[in-house]
Amino acid sequence: TNIVILISGRGSNMQAIVEAAIPEARIAAVIANRADASGLAWAAQRGIATAVLDHKAFDGRDAFDAALAELIDSHAPDLVVLAGFMRILTPGFVNHYAGRLVNIHPSLLPAFTGLHTHERALAEGVKFAGCTVHFVTAELDHGPIIAQAVVPVLEDDTADTLAARILKEEHRLYPEAVRLFAQGRLAIDQGRVRVAKA
Ligand code: GRF
Repeated sequence: TNIVILISGRGSNMQAIVEAAIPEARIAAVIANRADASGLAWAAQRGIATAVLDHKAFDGRDAFDAALAELIDSHAPDLVVLAGFMRILTPGFVNHYAGRLVNIHPSLLPAFTGLHTHERALAEGVKFAGCTVHFVTAELDHGPIIAQAVVPVLEDDTADTLAARILKEEHRLYPEAVRLFAQGRLAIDQGRVRVAKA
């Protein structure tokens, strides 16, 4: 399974997926929309092909997404992994990768989609939070759920302490979900993900 990972920043989830060394998975490339994404250097040091495609150099989302898809497809991926990729993708892009585009979001979806998830979870006083790996559809942070992990929210949590507790789970959950995909064990059936037994 050829995998292209898209990042915008430190790429700690990308690192977790690379370090999981999934036998069925080959990381074909790591692509960022910002040259200063620190995860790029980390990947390059490990001999992974890296590329930058600056969205600011394009006139609108359609033009950027078309160029991005062309760059991704030059690596012939079976799976495209969004790992802290901070761009909203057009329906055209998402449809092009239907069933082979996944994302991780640091909440228990469908709660708290979008930005500032931890602040909003704390403001609601929820007692549990977590993270979700899902197939990407045109609606932001929606799409068939592959896996979730739950953490408790503690009395004196701040957005930062909660984010850190969730991030630890992300680093376990995302490689696990990628492994299931790479082993061909994920199927989407009537909008829901079915996981085949090993
Ligand atoms: C993660 O919390 C992810 O869930 C969210 O953005 C953060 C990215 O972190 N979408 P990293 O770049 O993988 O370290």
